[in-house]
Amino acid sequence: MKNIILIGFMGVGKGSVAREVIKHSEYIALDTDDLIESMENRKIKKIFQEDGEKYFRNIEKKVAHWLKTSIKNTLISTGGGFFKQKGIKDVGIIVLLDSPFEEIIKRIKEHPNAVKKIKKRPLLNDMRLAKKLYDERRPEYLEVADVVIDVTNKSAYDCAKELLKKVKEHA
Ligand code: S3P
Repeated sequence: MKNIILIGFMGVGKGSVAREVIKHSEYIALDTDDLIESMENRKIKKIFQEDGEKYFRNIEKKVAHWLKTSIKNTLISTGGGFFKQKGIKDVGIIVLLDSPFEEIIKRIKEHPNAVKKIKKRPLLNDMRLAKKLYDERRPEYLEVADVVIDVTNKSAYDCAKELLKKVKEHA
């Protein structure tokens, strides 16, 4: 079993799909944002506020190196910008969760904790800039992905099933 690296834009549902995958497979899961928050003992939002995005990307770099050298048989959920880390292709199979920007925002807004979900993501606070970031990143996500899953209007369970099937076919 190779690692699976889940990539995709903020709010696309990486966490929800990861939880379903581990329920229905032998994989265990890691989340790069959770790792960073425990390394730093502060929230991502605080890290951005206090030390800026560049500082955050440097910690992502450390995490990417650690994943590459030390982690196996794991489903790794990543923050929306993690895919840019060099060497990510060597960590495992890259699975992109894909959906149009409007659908992603709709999904977040329908969540009972919508305000909190938006507030905790510094790069989602300005919707115009977030859309710009999405448009820049979408082709880059597609370029790096080994497997693409269109998650629009699908349950996390259905996405997880599709993911496991496609990863098996890819191996
Ligand atoms: C980021 C996405 C966030 C988090 C940070 C930066 C990004 O993770 O890593 O706020 O650059 O897209 P989620 O994709 O889990 O929201």
